[in-house]
Formats: sequence, C-alpha cells, structure tokens
Amino acid sequence: MGKEHAIARIITGKPLAEDISLDSNLRPRSLSEFIGQAKIKENLGISIAAARARGEALDHVLLYGPPGLGKTTLANIIAVEMGVSIRITSGPAIERSGDLAAILTNLHAQDILFIDEIHRLGRDVEEVLYPAMEERALDIVIGKGPTAKSLRLKLPAFTLIGATTRFASLSAPLRDRFGSVYRMDYYDVHSMEAIVKRSAHLLGVKAEDTGLHEIACRSRGTPRVANRLLKRVRDYTQVKADGEITHDIALTALGRLEVDPIGLDEIDHRLLRSIIEKFNGGPVGLETIAASISEEADTIMDVYEPYLLQLGFLDRTPRGRQVTPLAYKHLGLAYNKDKNVQPGLL
Ligand SMILES: Nc1ncnc2c1ncn2[C@@H]1O[C@H](COP(=O)(O)OP(=O)(O)O)[C@@H](O)[C@H]1O
Ligand SMILES: [Mg+2]
Repeated sequence: MGKEHAIARIITGKPLAEDISLDSNLRPRSLSEFIGQAKIKENLGISIAAARARGEALDHVLLYGPPGLGKTTLANIIAVEMGVSIRITSGPAIERSGDLAAILTNLHAQDILFIDEIHRLGRDVEEVLYPAMEERALDIVIGKGPTAKSLRLKLPAFTLIGATTRFASLSAPLRDRFGSVYRMDYYDVHSMEAIVKRSAHLLGVKAEDTGLHEIACRSRGTPRVANRLLKRVRDYTQVKADGEITHDIALTALGRLEVDPIGLDEIDHRLLRSIIEKFNGGPVGLETIAASISEEADTIMDVYEPYLLQLGFLDRTPRGRQVTPLAYKHLGLAYNKDKNVQPGLL
C-alpha cells in the first residue's frame, strides 16, 4: 500500500474534505463564467441554443478527463443554461437496476440526469440505460420464470450527462449512445491565472498578480487544485503576514506546502528519480516501476502519470515508461544521450 492512500496529496485533483465548501462557493454558474476549455464551451453553447430553439431535450453528453477540471461544474451549468432540473447521482450509488428505474420514472421532460463516475455502473444497471437513452423506454419484467412478462414504459425525453475519469473503462455500447463526447484537458497557465484571479476575488482576498501567478503555475492545470492552494496561501497570509498575498508571501507559503514551481510534489520527484536511478531513465515496464516504489500499477497510471505525461516528463513507449530530457533538466540532472543505446550496438 503506497503513500497516496495514507497522506492526501495537496496537489491531487480529487476532492478532499477541505474542498467541499470551496467547490460549491467558487463553482461557476453559467457558461460565460466558466473559464477556459474554449472549444467545449463553444460547441456546448451551440448545442444548447439549438435544443432550446427546438424546445427539445439536449442530446446525451459524456464528459471525460482527469478529476478537478470541471465536469460536475459543466453538468450543472448545462442544466442552468437549458433552464431545466438536474438530478445528480453516481455510478457506485446506483446499486440495482431497480434504483435506476425509480430515478428514470421520476424525471420530467427535458430534465437532466447526471451520473458521475459512470464507468462504475454495474452491468445490469447499464443494460437498463441502453433503451432508456436510445428509445427513452424502460423495459420491466414482471414475475419470474415461464409466466414472466415484459412491459415497456415510455420515459420522458430526458438528457443523460455522464462524467468519467476513465474513458477506456466505459463499455462501447454505452459510449456509442452519447450524442456528444467532450474530452476535458488540463488548463493552460493563462486560463489557470484567470481562474485563480476569479477565486481570489470571490473570496475577497487581496493579492498581487505575481502572487496569484505562482499559485496558477503550481496547480497542475487543475482548477480544484488552484482553489485549494489559494485557500492555503490565504490562510498563511492571514496568520503570518498582513493579509495581502504578495509574490514573496506566495513563494514562502507554497514552499512550505512542498509543491515545486511547476506543481510537482515529493511523490512525483520520487517516481522520476527512481526510474532514472534504478532503470537508467527507462524504458521500463509499469509493473516494474510499481514494484520499485511499492505502489500499485493502477495508482501510477491513474494518479501519478497523467500530469507527468502532459508535461512531457514521461513518455509511454512500447517498451515501457521513459523519462524525457525535459524531466532530467527540471530535476537538475545531466541527460546522457548515449545511455539508451543497446549494448549490442556499441
Ligand atoms: N472552468 C472553470 N472555471 C472556474 N472554476 C472552475 C472551472 N472548472 C472547475 N472549476 C472549479 O474547480 C472545482 C472543481 O470542479 P468540478 O466540476 O467539481 O471538477 P470534476 O467534476 O471534473 O472533478 C469547482 O468547484 C470550481 O470551483
Ligand atoms: Mg466531479
């Protein structure tokens, strides 16, 4: 069992207990308030306007991407922009197909059903969803054995919004039933700055732009992380300084949180260094890395790797993971170009 489970990382995109009130207070409520992800915003805006003009329900929408990028936020915004109600649930919360049937039959025309972590729906439940999405029908079996009868109920024209961090875990039949699929990406620094600025304003925090810039750079392209770091820096500033987040104060506060200038923490450093030191920088198989730092391969793949891949610090090659020259440079290590040449070729 690795550290990830024992100590919550300050830079995790997943919600921590301390985020609950932040998340809801800082959540943008309309598409125009939603910063970044320009392409998604534009396409969604068009679909919403068209559906509204026709007086129809919006096509089913699938949102996928790493945690903390705004999937739940977008689902709520879609409901607001459509002017309809939203019913929120999640894959693991819907245990039996009967639970889903109850939810579906309680929806009104054009309502939105939001299923978070939709990749975690059970098989049986998923099968109820297919006709519901496709034909807006609910098939119920009454009785058991040879006398069992199947009954088809008509459902209101609802919109399903599914969110997932694991697109690949979604079954193909489910994926195919979404009219639009949006992949959310890590935000660029420019958007991150705008997000931190907006949050600081909403929280009533006085801050220098350069101080907020430091927070934006260390937030791993993830709004939830930005808000969390902002809150921590604000607390530090209140106690140790006179309440304004200056550049210097931001640097000191962030330094204490042990997040480096591009948002890497000790665990990221440990992962990269261990591939460099034990495997000459790779390529090395995921399982081998996992064993060498006593972690689960899945945890490395879902939690550690995505941001390192995004930064271009790690490459996925057919022969395994490889640390790139960029990462060596960041760690202050010399990169020896010849080291990966196979012995036989020397
Ligand atoms: N585009 C955005 N602009 C401003 N704040 C955002 C944006 N996306 C997300 N946030 C902030 O990040 C928090 C986490 O977003 P959320 O929608 O819960 O992420 P996800 O569902 O993808 O894990 C939100 O509460 C909100 O405060
Ligand atoms: Mg969410």
